Amino acid sequence: MSVFGEDPNLTRMDAPARPQNIDEKVLTHVPGLDKLMGGGFERNATICLFGGPGTGKTTLALQILHNAAVTDGEPGLYISFEQSRDEVYRFMKRMGYDLEALEKKGLFTFKNYYPTHLQSFIKEDRGPIEKTIETIGATLLGIDSLTALAMVSEGEMERRRTFLKLFETVKIHNTTSIFTVEEHLTPDNIKSAYGTEFLADGVVNLYNLRREWTRRLGLEIIKMRGVAFPRKIVPYTIESNGINVFPDLNL
Ligand SMILES: Nc1ncnc2c1ncn2[C@@H]1O[C@H](COP(=O)(O)OP(=O)(O)O)[C@@H](O)[C@H]1O
Ligand SMILES: [Mg+2]
Repeated sequence: MSVFGEDPNLTRMDAPARPQNIDEKVLTHVPGLDKLMGGGFERNATICLFGGPGTGKTTLALQILHNAAVTDGEPGLYISFEQSRDEVYRFMKRMGYDLEALEKKGLFTFKNYYPTHLQSFIKEDRGPIEKTIETIGATLLGIDSLTALAMVSEGEMERRRTFLKLFETVKIHNTTSIFTVEEHLTPDNIKSAYGTEFLADGVVNLYNLRREWTRRLGLEIIKMRGVAFPRKIVPYTIESNGINVFPDLNL
């Protein structure tokens, strides 16, 4: 049976109109990032953002959803396990990203779930996540973080099953999905704990690199299906306007 239920056409007709550029790439409008990717994400791609604490995974995911909504009218759904709506909205507003205004326009929806809830939603056919995606016509989805979801799984088999079902579900719904993954990866060790990098269409690593007695932030695209990207680590910063990527500079 289809995950849309018995009559997929009816459900889809009820959903808001989708953006006109549906056949085009999803631009992040994050300074420097689209240039690094030679465009943007392939539509319907699953992208994992890997990084240690404070590397800006949450900021980057939200910045992308915000920008796509504001600039291209792409409705986004963001599911957070770690932070409340108020906390996230306040933090992003300080950087100039008004998620509340987008919410009022129906272009952004924030959900705060326990990982165990999401896990049971994923197991259901046409569960609450899918219904929300359909209702708001979400073309972008953010899940922060896959690590929290992995941690509530009982054993390797269940974790694999949960991830596979999640990746399959978002594909069926045609959302371009951004998942954060909490991992202390280094340029010399990019193997993650749960193997999500093999499931995803795109992998972006965020590194906190030591240079003498200071630290620099470095961004590396490891994998991006359908995109020719440079094999290098480029600098990025988290500033008062959010994340900025410098594709033409060296670390
Ligand atoms: N205005 C700002 N200028 C510079 N850095 C900031 C600013 N606001 C927040 N940060 C930094 O952004 C980081 C938070 O990013 P966050 O997206 O929560 O990281 P992660 O989700 O990877 O843990 C923190 O390291 C914080 O110090
Ligand atoms: Mg975070």
